[in-house]
Amino acid sequence: MVRVLEPKTFPGLLDSKVVSRGTMEEHYKLYLSHVQKGQDLTERLTQIQCTRSTAQATEIANLKGDLTFVLSAVRNHEIYFDILAAQGTPPTGKLLEAICACFGNLDNYLKDLRQTARTCRGWTWTMLDECTGRLWNLPSQQMASGPLWKARPLLAVDLFEHAFFGDYGLHRMDYIDAVMTHLNFKPVESRYLGVAG
Ligand SMILES: [Fe+2]
Repeated sequence: MVRVLEPKTFPGLLDSKVVSRGTMEEHYKLYLSHVQKGQDLTERLTQIQCTRSTAQATEIANLKGDLTFVLSAVRNHEIYFDILAAQGTPPTGKLLEAICACFGNLDNYLKDLRQTARTCRGWTWTMLDECTGRLWNLPSQQMASGPLWKARPLLAVDLFEHAFFGDYGLHRMDYIDAVMTHLNFKPVESRYLGVAG
């Protein structure tokens, strides 16, 4: 079944205390604009799919380039928004076991995540490498390029300046520390277990 691209809601996001409510409202509006653009691009590409001509080749190429960017932006932000909560929730169960197997203990994992974010200007991820079962904290500098093929994104931290500059200015490490304080691992665990997108 093909699902229509629809915006998601994230209860508690605006009050997650990672950034001010106003900054998060603008960030969520940016996400909504990506969803709308994704809907528009999908509709346009569907319209011309069966009627393409040589004259439309450039338009199709441009639309698909834009679609790749926009769908990536939507998915990246959905993974980021749902890990933020005023009351952080630590990892448990199979996820905690995997973290301890790969990093020794939870503290080492969090330090590695923080260090990865520190050196990144785009997105920092916790990925499940589906070829080995290993967890990695990895950076990606672009919106539309994941850090590793055949790996499942579990957790994302948005490090583009729009995510934090209004509240933290040049003090990006303060923003990273705020994210680390408000991590909700429930959806991370669901993605690790394969029961959530
Ligand atoms: Fe963002």
